[in-house]
Amino acid sequence: MKEYKAVINGEFIDNNEWLEIINPTDNSIAGKVTALKGKDINNAFESARKSQEAWENTHLLKRISILNNFKKLLIQNKNNLAEVMTSEIAKSLKDSLSEIDRTIELIEYTFEEAKRMDPLALTGEGMGAKNKLGIFSRVAKGVVLAISPFNYPFNLALAKIIPALVMGNTVVFKPATAGSLVGSLLGKLSIEANFPKGIFNVVTGRGREIGDLITMNKEIDMISFTGSVSIGNNIKEKGSSKDIVLELGGKDPALVLDDNNLESYSKNIIDGAFGYSGQRCTAIKRVITTNKIADKLVPLLIDKVNKLTIGSPYENKDITPVIDQKSADFIKGLVEDAKLKKATILTGDKYIKNLIYPTLIDNVTLEMRVAWEEPFGPILPIIRIDNIEEMIRVANESEFGLQASIFCADINNALQVAKRIKTGTVNINSKSQRGPDCFPFLGIKNSGQGVQGVRESLLSMTRYHGIVINY
Ligand code: NAP
Ligand code: G3P
Repeated sequence: MKEYKAVINGEFIDNNEWLEIINPTDNSIAGKVTALKGKDINNAFESARKSQEAWENTHLLKRISILNNFKKLLIQNKNNLAEVMTSEIAKSLKDSLSEIDRTIELIEYTFEEAKRMDPLALTGEGMGAKNKLGIFSRVAKGVVLAISPFNYPFNLALAKIIPALVMGNTVVFKPATAGSLVGSLLGKLSIEANFPKGIFNVVTGRGREIGDLITMNKEIDMISFTGSVSIGNNIKEKGSSKDIVLELGGKDPALVLDDNNLESYSKNIIDGAFGYSGQRCTAIKRVITTNKIADKLVPLLIDKVNKLTIGSPYENKDITPVIDQKSADFIKGLVEDAKLKKATILTGDKYIKNLIYPTLIDNVTLEMRVAWEEPFGPILPIIRIDNIEEMIRVANESEFGLQASIFCADINNALQVAKRIKTGTVNINSKSQRGPDCFPFLGIKNSGQGVQGVRESLLSMTRYHGIVINY
């Protein structure tokens, strides 16, 4: 069985303690990662601290050049990285490859944007202080703890690691257990890219066992976390750093306001709901529309769901097994609850272990759990509401506020409704999505805190340092 070792202070850790990573497709062992204990975790933070000042004092262009060597290695190892990703999270090979391509673009964009983080030069004149000139530069915060979820082990890891490093921070990176083979490979490639020792440390092991040891370490200056609401909020309460960016769950609604382009609306809804089997924070997780529109929309949705292919990620099927049996049982529980409360099952509701057939559920009412809870799987509830005010109210009543979609040919109507939707972003006439990655990306309410995106991540991983010249 292939071993993937943690990396601390530029060296592989060989403590002979392992955590097996299960392949969700066939339950085989995809590989094993180092199961770290407390002493090594402390060493990771200590080496990040020790190396930080020298790294920050390294010229920006030199830092970019070192990180660019790393980027070249990511490109050279693209196929292996994609295969490993598929083996540990059952994302189709083609989607794993496109996640890597997208991230390479993000890295290049980040290098360019880092060069434009110019200082502010201000005079005090407007405040009656004519003799003061302030120069406010963005400087590194120090040691950044990056924690990523299972669903984008490459993109959501590097969207934190690269902006942190390029601005002169050092990083301790904790990948999700499902995703830690890719995470460990990032550590290995950082050694091959000759990263200065200590600037990038990969700590692996189960979050529930070593999470507190990691998040409560006193060396942390900033935490960037992506994952579930419960773990994110727990870290916010218990973690050692008050400086925290959280990207959490969602229950993105698609509001269909007219029947002008139902073919395009239905295509977007199905892509948005069932991409990577619904395991995207930004997946469309409920459709809200009127009875009249639903009567025409639903047959198109059924038709498209019936065309989705189901099976192995190695064969690039659209619907692949969800991450584990626990997740599959949770998703099935949501469907069972809706059935008990008289929802109409239109497709799917078939389960082969953790492979869930894409399930459309119509006539979902507000008493059903699936109207409110995030399934993180291939099921889509349709809520019929005839009054537009009520549609907006239900869209906004959610504990989540990540994204929303509005489908409407009349741009004025669409904009009027969009302004009233309480989410980080509203997409008009498209599925909800994070990309392109240069856009600010944020969730409000329980969906997060702070903003990601290329420029926004560079800002959140730096602080102002002012020098005031008195003359
Ligand atoms: P998760 O269970 O919350 O895990 C996220 C990360 O936290 C993993 O690295 C996990 O490690 C770690 N962790 C677990 N317990 C911890 C603890 N006590 N202390 C510190 N770290 C701990 O989430 P997931 O299942 O991987 O991802 C799915 C969730 O992420 C969904 O809710 C989805 O909406 C959300 N998400 C949000 C965004 C966004 O941008 N808003 C993007 C992607 C995903 P282990 O794996 O070892 O437990
Ligand atoms: O769920 C992770 C988030 O980053 C999704 O990105 O482009 O699939 O919306 P995207």
